[in-house]
Amino acid sequence: MRMKKFLMASAIIAASTSMAAEVISPEDWKLYQEGINPGEIFAEEVGGKLFNKPMGPEGKSCASCHTKNGEVEEKVATAAAYYPKYDKSCGKVINLEQRIQLCQAKYQKVKPFSLKSKENVALTTYLYYLAAGTPIKIDLSEPHVKEYHDYGRYVFTLKRGKRNLSCQVCHEFAVGHVLRMQPLYPLGTQTINGSKGKANASLWPAYRMTKDKVFTLQQRFLGCQKQAGQKKLPLGSKEMVALEVYIKSLANGVELKTPGLRR
Ligand code: HEC
Ligand code: HEC
Repeated sequence: MRMKKFLMASAIIAASTSMAAEVISPEDWKLYQEGINPGEIFAEEVGGKLFNKPMGPEGKSCASCHTKNGEVEEKVATAAAYYPKYDKSCGKVINLEQRIQLCQAKYQKVKPFSLKSKENVALTTYLYYLAAGTPIKIDLSEPHVKEYHDYGRYVFTLKRGKRNLSCQVCHEFAVGHVLRMQPLYPLGTQTINGSKGKANASLWPAYRMTKDKVFTLQQRFLGCQKQAGQKKLPLGSKEMVALEVYIKSLANGVELKTPGLRR
C-alpha cells in the first residue's frame, strides 16, 4: 500500500516538473498590476468584432439574427451558462464552441472556424463574457446530458498514459497537497480532505498568464493531459464534451466570472 502510494506520488511529481518552468511575461505582469484582464480585451476586440461581421453568401452576421435594439438577445447572451446542451438536429450533446459552428454552417452558410482556431475561441470567449454573472446551470434532468455527465465522471476516473494517471488522482486524491508550489483544490464546489473547491469551470475560458492567451476549458484539459503523459483527446470529442459536462455541472449554481485570469 505504502509502495503504491509512493509510486503514485512520484508519477504526479514527474508529471508536474515542467509546470514550474512557466513564467509570466513582464508586459503581462504590468497589465495585471493595473487590474487589466487581457482576456476581456480579447473578448471584446476580437470576439465582439467577429460577432458583428457579415459573412457568407447572404452577408449575415451573428448580430443580424441575435441582436435586438442594439443588444444581444437574452438566450444568446446567457447561453454560456447553459451549454453543453443536447441538440436535436445533431443528435448529441454539444458545447458552446460547437453551437457556434452549427450556426455558422446552418445559418451563415460558411465553413465553420475550427475548434482550435483563434476565431472560434474569440467568439466563445465573447459569449462567455456577455454571460458573466449568470449562474451555471447544466441541466442534469435532461437524459442525454445526464448520460454525458456519467460518462464524463468515468473519463475523469480512468487511468491512462505512460504514468497511469487519471484526472481524479490529482484533482481528488491529491487535494490538500501542494504540487510545484500550487495547492490543489477540488475542481467543483465540493470539499475534499478539508479543502473547499473553487468551482473552476466558472472561470473558463481564461487568459493564461503563463501562455499569453485565452484557453477554453477543453483546451485547459489538453494541458493537463499533456503534463500527465496521456494521449490528448480531440477537442469536441464525446469524451471531451462529457468531461466538460461533468466538471461544469460540479459548479452548478455558481455565477460565471468569465473570462477568468489564470496562471
Ligand atoms: C440567419 C440567422 C442566424 C445567424 C446568422 C446566426 N444564428 Fe445563432 N441561432 C439562430 C437560430 C434560429 C437559433 C435557434 C434555433 C436552432 O437551434 O437552430 C440560433 C441559436 C443560437 C444559439 C443557442 C441559443 C440557445 O438557447 O441554445 C447561440 C449561442 C447562437 N445561435 C450563436 C450564434 C453565433 C455566435 C452566430 C455567429 C457565428 C450565430 N448564432 C449566427 C439563427 C442564427
Ligand atoms: C499530474 C496531476 C494532474 C493530472 C493527472 C490532471 N491535472 Fe488538472 N491540474 C493539475 C495542476 C497542478 C493544475 C494547476 C492548478 C493551479 O494552477 O492552481 C491543474 C489545473 C486544472 C484545471 C484548471 C484549474 C484552474 O481553474 O486553474 C482544470 C480544469 C483541470 N486541471 C482539469 C483536469 C482534467 C479534466 C484532467 C484529466 C484529463 C486533469 N486535470 C488531470 C494537475 C493535474
